[in-house]
Amino acid sequence: MTKRIGILTGGGDAPGLNAVIRAVVLVANNRYGWEVVGIREGFDGLLSGAPVLPLTEERVRLIHGRGGTILGAVNRGNPFVKVVERADGGVDSLDLSAEAFDRMKDLGLDALIAAGGDGTMAIAQKLVTLGAPIVGVPKTIDNDLNLTDVTFGFDSAIVTATEALDKLQTTAESHHRAMVMEVMGRNAGWIAMMAGVAGGADAILIPEIPFDINVVCEKIESLRRDGRRYSLIVVAEGATPVGGKQEFSTLSGGVMRLGGISYLVGEMLANRIDADVRVTVLGHLQRGGQPTPRDRWLATRFGAAAVRLIAEERWGYLVALRGTEVISVSMEDAIRQLKVIDVNGAMVQMARDLGIVFG
Ligand code: F6P
Repeated sequence: MTKRIGILTGGGDAPGLNAVIRAVVLVANNRYGWEVVGIREGFDGLLSGAPVLPLTEERVRLIHGRGGTILGAVNRGNPFVKVVERADGGVDSLDLSAEAFDRMKDLGLDALIAAGGDGTMAIAQKLVTLGAPIVGVPKTIDNDLNLTDVTFGFDSAIVTATEALDKLQTTAESHHRAMVMEVMGRNAGWIAMMAGVAGGADAILIPEIPFDINVVCEKIESLRRDGRRYSLIVVAEGATPVGGKQEFSTLSGGVMRLGGISYLVGEMLANRIDADVRVTVLGHLQRGGQPTPRDRWLATRFGAAAVRLIAEERWGYLVALRGTEVISVSMEDAIRQLKVIDVNGAMVQMARDLGIVFG
């Protein structure tokens, strides 16, 4: 039977989303003869009444190497708690999930693919319990979605972060400075860990291990005693000092957004060590730009596998990578907890063996 399937990209974008969209269209068209339409701006697009984007092979040609998402994405588009402004200027939080599901029916969608992180999967899973035919594709540069070894976007982010660290190293060495670099990672330090090791960091501060700044200072001083007068400190945006809390900024229209811990770390260091300290926040550079070939490959495999999940009517499941195999896992299981670094695991131990401190 010919089907009409929709696809949306929710949450923050990640390099590789366009490769997912292209793979979905190619496999749906070529293998199954199904039509694909794009829902704009994540789940918001189901409520806004915005026209869907017909996704033909011609429309998705050459998008696999482009960053971002041609469908647009929002990271506050939850139909179960939709914030709407009242005439008096106040705001109400409404459950518009039934309307979102109705719109799927009005659009004649036989199935929907939701590409996103834990927030998107949580929304999708709740809609599935209402009867909506949805499958998922996991996405986040933070790599913290559970039950998949890796998500696309992560490789591109660590390439960006590692290159940045390489660049900071040369100028740090010239000026004998301590360079603090902040990377993304709200609850998990995967980017900090992998880019930090790949880029030769001396200290890696991650959300999983509250840090004692004195340990970082001791490391920097011991390096200096050994004749190395520069140091590289990578800090994940969600890292906290022992007994402290996460740092936020209100840049985004008064909405609290994680970020700024590197400035606190920089100040703490500058007050304690005899070295010039500089801070770099990589921010959204990590989410932008072309996906690496590895991310394109994974995104393409995920997109193709999501179409197969639809053929099997596995609503409430998402594709995932286990070893070299693409498998499927239930959304319910995937969102139960985040995938964080095991602080007693081999990865942390290896980094410690290399002489890296976690504070
Ligand atoms: O989930 C990915 C992520 O990059 C987080 O690490 C970061 O806190 C967040 O998105 C920032 O998102 P935005 O600025 O788009 O709200």
